[in-house]
Amino acid sequence: MQVDPRNRNRPPLPRKRRPAVIPFLRGFLLQPREVATLFPSSRSLELRLSRLHCLRDAQSVVELGPGTGGTTQALLGAMSSSARLLCIEVVREYVEYLGWIEDHRLRVQEGSAHQLGPHLERNGITRPDVIVSGIPFSMMTRREGRDLVNAIHAALAPGGTFVAYQLRDRISELAGERFGPARSSFLFWNIPPLRILQWRKDEWPPTSRERNQHG
Ligand SMILES: C[S@@+](CC[C@H](N)C(=O)[O-])C[C@H]1O[C@@H](n2cnc3c(N)ncnc32)[C@H](O)[C@@H]1O
Repeated sequence: MQVDPRNRNRPPLPRKRRPAVIPFLRGFLLQPREVATLFPSSRSLELRLSRLHCLRDAQSVVELGPGTGGTTQALLGAMSSSARLLCIEVVREYVEYLGWIEDHRLRVQEGSAHQLGPHLERNGITRPDVIVSGIPFSMMTRREGRDLVNAIHAALAPGGTFVAYQLRDRISELAGERFGPARSSFLFWNIPPLRILQWRKDEWPPTSRERNQHG
C-alpha cells in the first residue's frame, strides 16, 4: 500500500469522541441565535471536512464556531503535525467543553468572530491559510455578514481558502460579492442537510487580462 508522504507525520483520527448531543443542546438553549441548530456535526460532515485538500499543506487554520468540537477534531485529523488551529467560539460552555480535545496544535479563543482581527493578533496569527466557518450567517444582519466576510478576506493569506458549511444560502451572496463564485456541494447525510462552500482568495473581480484569458 502506498503512503502519501504528506500523511506520514499526521496523527490518526481518534476513534472515540465524547458524546456531544447533551452539551450541544445545552449551548443551544443558552444561545439559540448563535448556535442555530439542535444537532452537532454529523460524522458525514466531519468526514467531508477532513477531506478538504486545502488543509493538507496549511500551516495556520482558523475555525469559527467549533461548538462541541466534532468539526475541530476533523480539521485536526487532516492537518499536518506542524500546523496550528485557532478556534474562536462565542458560547462559554462550548469553550470549556472543548478542553476534551488534547492536541498541542489547538488553541481555543473565547469571543466573537466579529472581532476576528483582534483575536488573530492576540494569538499571534498574521495570515491564516484556511478559515473554516460553521457560524450561521443567516442569523446576522446583512451589514454584520458583509463585515465578517470582509474581515475573513482581509485576514486570509493570498491564495488562502474560506470554507463555510451552512443550512441556508445567505452566505453565497455575501461572500460572492467579495470572493467571487463559490465551489459548492450539498451534504444530504446531515440533520438538517447542509451546503458546503469554498472560496479562494484570488483577485476579485478578475482583471481584464484574466477575463480575456478565460474567455
Ligand atoms: C451550527 S453550530 C456549529 C457547531 C460545530 N462546528 C458543529 O458542527 O457541531 C454554530 C457554532 O457557531 C458558534 N457561533 C455563532 N456565532 C458566533 C460568533 N459570532 N463567533 C464565534 N462563534 C459563533 C455557535 O456558538 C456554534 O458553536
